[in-house]
Amino acid sequence: LSPQRLAGRRVLITAGPTWEAIDPVRGLTNRSSGKMGFALAQAAWEAGAEVTLVAGPVALATPRGVQRIDVVSARDMLEAVLAEVEAADVFIATAAVADWRPAQVSEQKIKKDASGRTPTLSFTENPDILATVAALPRSRSGALYCVGFAAESHDLQRHAEEKRARKGVPLLVGNIGPETFGRDDNALLLVDAEGSMALPRAPKTELARLLVAELARRLSATP
Ligand code: C5P
Repeated sequence: LSPQRLAGRRVLITAGPTWEAIDPVRGLTNRSSGKMGFALAQAAWEAGAEVTLVAGPVALATPRGVQRIDVVSARDMLEAVLAEVEAADVFIATAAVADWRPAQVSEQKIKKDASGRTPTLSFTENPDILATVAALPRSRSGALYCVGFAAESHDLQRHAEEKRARKGVPLLVGNIGPETFGRDDNALLLVDAEGSMALPRAPKTELARLLVAELARRLSATP
């Protein structure tokens, strides 16, 4: 990869889990580590891009040169993304956004009931950040290239193709099992309109470089 293949491009990336509050001290989250998104941010910066990384709660250092915006919930993440996306040429959604959040957030810590009654949670759906961004009209010239990720336990190819269509994005990247969360390595399946291509198991940092090279190739093919 020649080092400056994304020079002049602006890349916006979501990474990590979201955290959905139940009350001031409790919440729901998931096991996403953010490693793939952070590796992509670093690789894009190394390729010359201007990079903004919108990160849920993760324990990772900010890659050099990258502008990082920390968020907590899916709605915070959407708001931060919408504030940044206008300037972007590429949007990469690696975040494991919570599909649902508690319908009510208690302003006070929920106390244990002396009679042993347990609280019941009900949920409401979170916004789909990737689908929202992919459907945005562009007020400035130039297209936004959107990339989605998918973690599936089975039938990856079929699910990735369906997800690509459902989210309205040109490229969907599937994590090839085993469970990727927290691991330093991964294997990827790139699914686009033409078909699919596998990137064999490698450290996430290496896969990020390959994916960035692939993105640079696609962007230079579309003026
Ligand atoms: O529908 P599913 O969660 O499997 O889709 C995964 C892809 O969509 C990932 O790229 C993820 O970052 C994105 N996504 C999102 N907002 C959501 C749910 C998923 O941006 N609420």
